[in-house]
Amino acid sequence: MKLWSGRFGKETDALVNDFNASIQFDQRLYKEDITGSMAHAKMLGACGIISAEDTESIVKGLQSILEDVEAGKVEFTADNEDIHMNVETILTARIGDAGKRLHTGRSRNDQVAVDFRMYVRDQIPVIIGQLLELETVLCRQAKQYQNTVMPGYTHLQRAQPISFAQHLMAYANMFSRDITRLEDCAARMNECPLGSGALAGTTYPIDRWQTAKALGFDAPMSNSLDGVSDRDYALELMSALSVLMMHLSRFSEEVILWCSWEFKFIELDDAYSTGSSIMPQKKNPDVAELVRGKTGRVYGDLMSLLTTMKGIPLAYNKDMQEDKEPVFDAIDTVEMCIPVFSAMIDTMRVLPENMRRAAGRGFINATDCADYLTKKGMPFRDAYTVTGRLVAACTAQGKTLEDLTIDELKTSSELFDEDVYEAINLENCMALRASYGGPAVSETTRQIEAIEAFVAARNI
Ligand code: ARG
Repeated sequence: MKLWSGRFGKETDALVNDFNASIQFDQRLYKEDITGSMAHAKMLGACGIISAEDTESIVKGLQSILEDVEAGKVEFTADNEDIHMNVETILTARIGDAGKRLHTGRSRNDQVAVDFRMYVRDQIPVIIGQLLELETVLCRQAKQYQNTVMPGYTHLQRAQPISFAQHLMAYANMFSRDITRLEDCAARMNECPLGSGALAGTTYPIDRWQTAKALGFDAPMSNSLDGVSDRDYALELMSALSVLMMHLSRFSEEVILWCSWEFKFIELDDAYSTGSSIMPQKKNPDVAELVRGKTGRVYGDLMSLLTTMKGIPLAYNKDMQEDKEPVFDAIDTVEMCIPVFSAMIDTMRVLPENMRRAAGRGFINATDCADYLTKKGMPFRDAYTVTGRLVAACTAQGKTLEDLTIDELKTSSELFDEDVYEAINLENCMALRASYGGPAVSETTRQIEAIEAFVAARNI
């Protein structure tokens, strides 16, 4: 018999029973549901709404259910629809009438709002911890490759010399912002909806500050309709996770490119690569490809809940039961991706000679050649044109700028002197880019130290 069967004259249709149920996925919230109920029962007792004996019996009963669920001894059923009614039904079966007093002054809308919010809130530190580990891996790798010259790209065309450390630290900075986005979102969501009732609060003299505090929230939510209706915290989390996955996906794409024979800048460890069933020579970057692929899935989760929420009037509507699966999926996906991605980066073999060879082709010192002439007094725009012509001539002859003799250079401009070779030497071009944020070792050192301090401040 349903908890709400009083006003009904018939049993629920079997199809509706299954269609309506959410226990298949919301049983994941068992702990939050039970802790939420304990806090509610203690508050009811403290406010004199239920007796001390009933409070004690409810809390003990809930504790025993929690232990049994964790020991795998409890079976939930779709007949009781969701985790909230499953727990209440089991409680009443165990402790009798006191169990029936638990739901005084509260609703399931309340319960789902508080359970889900606690679950989401408590996953954020898990994800942040994984990102901090990834940042640590990036710093460790970057420290070894501060002098490793590689081509920096725009339009996937070789552009200017950078170091591999500079490239890695670009991602480290993105992940730092992902972490602070998650922290912001955690801080904003930490208000407690419990006590909103079905939508309109309650006539019982409840103490919402007590339950909020007991459940680790900063304060109760200010408006009861908002309390049971809002899912923006979940959307905010999924937005932050989508941006994070976008970063991981771009990084994955580069790992995939770098592993190809066309680049060969890195080689992944055998433990983090896979083979082909037919081509014996293949070593595939499946981990990076899957992270890139799963990014679409997390975006989809965000779109799914945004779309669910866009047209529903206040307050609770059953549509909102569709909130949990995408959020669980996004969290599970991210929590699966970050550690495997970190381990892949941690164990990859970097091939500096290949990066250097690639840097040597593609005229990535052309800007430096123009800057050389500019520093000798030629207006930059003229220096740019002179260098462009030199590049065209070199391209026609299959040469690099460094291959040109000083006489050949002087036919373009009298300003060229022997010191030009120093100025367009790739190691120098990289090392001298010491402007704030640039790839010079002094600057990558500063960046690495900043990220290390960021990680240490969150004491991993
Ligand atoms: N199972 C529901 C959900 O996940 C919560 C219960 C509220 N249901 C209701 N009919 N008032 O959203």
